[in-house]
Amino acid sequence: MLHSRISGIGFHVPDRVVTNHDLEALMDTSDAWIVERTGIRQRHFVAGDVGSSDLGIEAARRALADAGRAARDVDFVIFATTTPDWMFPGNGVLVQQALGLDTVGALDVRNACSGFVYALSVADAFVRMGRYRCVLVIGAEVQSTGLDLSTDGRDMAVLFGDGAGAAVVEPTEAPRGILSWALHSEGALARELWCEAPSSRVPGRITTEMLEQRRQLPRMNGRQVFKNATTRFPEVIHEVLAAAGHTLEEVALIVPHQANQRIGDAVAQRLGVPPEKVFQNIERYGNTTAASIPIALTEARDQGRFRDGDLVVLAAFGAGFAWAGCAMRW
Ligand code: UT7
Repeated sequence: MLHSRISGIGFHVPDRVVTNHDLEALMDTSDAWIVERTGIRQRHFVAGDVGSSDLGIEAARRALADAGRAARDVDFVIFATTTPDWMFPGNGVLVQQALGLDTVGALDVRNACSGFVYALSVADAFVRMGRYRCVLVIGAEVQSTGLDLSTDGRDMAVLFGDGAGAAVVEPTEAPRGILSWALHSEGALARELWCEAPSSRVPGRITTEMLEQRRQLPRMNGRQVFKNATTRFPEVIHEVLAAAGHTLEEVALIVPHQANQRIGDAVAQRLGVPPEKVFQNIERYGNTTAASIPIALTEARDQGRFRDGDLVVLAAFGAGFAWAGCAMRW
């Protein structure tokens, strides 16, 4: 039976490293608070006018090289981001142009922290139906330009970072590759983590009043996100494993969206697995939203945390709320 698999992965983060101490100079926070509550020690921020498309394009180049594929092999692009360069068109077409791809389709996905897993599920479906044979899936974000780096915005500002990750998805024969995935949402909680402007509800898309109130920047009810995340992560991990006919004991590594180290620790605890079975690298990148899973997956693979033939589970939770999981045999 035709399956799809990730044949190459790669990531890219901007050079500029911003430590917790750098943030201490901008707002009332401390390295100790950030490390204790989030596990984050540093993150990368873009400099100048670099957009999420630029980061995504570089990650895509690396994933293609890792897969041993050339740009001419790509027959579809899926770009997941909540921070596109422009309101429209989406970043996908910018990848098509920058990589010199044929006039292939380019789809944009806006499911925030779950964007990469949502995008991967679409790639899997297209490949399995025989429609495409080499799909480029990208998750990239520039969060730094949307953060309030004053004490008012400190809950968000210390969490987020910029970066990009990408995967090449190609056909393979079962039992390798993507075995199952699950996608969920709960819009009743949309305003618990959101960015309301610019908005099509507003004539002119944004008003001076909205700008003064900084409503063009993301806002979050951190405790609500935390509570839901620690429930939904284990739930969706169990769901995709059951759908794939596997058990937690068989899993080599869980690669969750990097939201907060305490969330990752809680997920390991609730699942009853040792902490080392849940990969975490938030310490060095912060929360990079749609980019965090492909960045983590690349680092985990490069560190030998899983090998060919191993069972790997991805899981994501974030704005929407939307959450998603994917089980694959690497
Ligand atoms: O991908 C999904 C995106 N979002 C998330 O994953 C976020 C999930 N939530 C979290 O990670 C945590 O809720 C936070 C890290 C955002 C906050 O941690 P917390 O342990 O839930 O803290 P809290 O919101 O309950 O705040 C505790 C205190 C408050 O002070 P008071 O009211 O107790 O005096 C905050 O004002 O910590 C204060 N605080 C800070 N202090 C220093 C909030 N942010 C900061 C900060 N530095 N950056």
